[in-house]
Amino acid sequence: MSDLTTRQLLIDLSQPPGRHWCANDAFLTAWFNALSMSFPLGEQFFIDSLLAAVKELPQAEQHELQPLIRGFVAQEATHRHVHKRFNDHLLAAGLSNGWERRIVRRLRLVNKLAPKHRVAITAAYEHFTAVLSAYLLRHPQQLAGTEERLQHLWLWHASEEVEHKSVAFDLFQHIDGRLAVRRRWMARVTLIFFLDAVLQTLSNLRRDGSLYQLSTWRSAWRFLLGPSGVLRESYPLWKDYFRADFHPNQHSEAGQDAWLQEHPQAYRAVRAS
Ligand SMILES: [Fe+2]
Ligand SMILES: [Fe+2]
Repeated sequence: MSDLTTRQLLIDLSQPPGRHWCANDAFLTAWFNALSMSFPLGEQFFIDSLLAAVKELPQAEQHELQPLIRGFVAQEATHRHVHKRFNDHLLAAGLSNGWERRIVRRLRLVNKLAPKHRVAITAAYEHFTAVLSAYLLRHPQQLAGTEERLQHLWLWHASEEVEHKSVAFDLFQHIDGRLAVRRRWMARVTLIFFLDAVLQTLSNLRRDGSLYQLSTWRSAWRFLLGPSGVLRESYPLWKDYFRADFHPNQHSEAGQDAWLQEHPQAYRAVRAS
């Protein structure tokens, strides 16, 4: 992987997003709001996990991995900061972040695990994030009708997630690398991720007053399970993680480069790792 660039997102988040900011669609808005709610604490956990684990490696391996880990940390720190500002608007609008409260409770247990397990958890979430991000970059029309600053927020984040998708995986290979451990954490993370995403999306819809509208569930079906729905398209890519010879770079994705090249006005490169 080449060096990772840290980019400052050049959007104005001083004004709140509209009630159904995502494509004027209640379900999509609730879904993306839910994901955003998980980022500030979730991405801090990823950062902490990698920084703790890399210290356990021999000096030569630390030296080899440090530049990419520095780039990963800088990108995730920027993401969580921007999403925290976005989430403040959601809370002010009356939504409640139960996903974050569950993360706080879970971290009391997870932080007692050895660093290699926390890296395995991070690598699993990063695979999820990369698969979902690649989907969004292949289908930017899911955000059609969304105000431009918010399209930039999600596609900038998606681009960087695809860019750094192998950093946690590579660190896990250095620090442990056992297939059984990788598979076990992916199975657990999958269950927890979907539980959290569903509960938070339902909570957002309930508070928004859109939970019992037919159009909400039509959109959910189309986005999740439709012919080019996210679950249908992402399932084979998610499943690849269980293969013994899997590496994230086997999923070649050009979408992030294309988006970054086509939207230079959306960000400012701060530094390369
Ligand atoms: Fe991120
Ligand atoms: Fe990430």
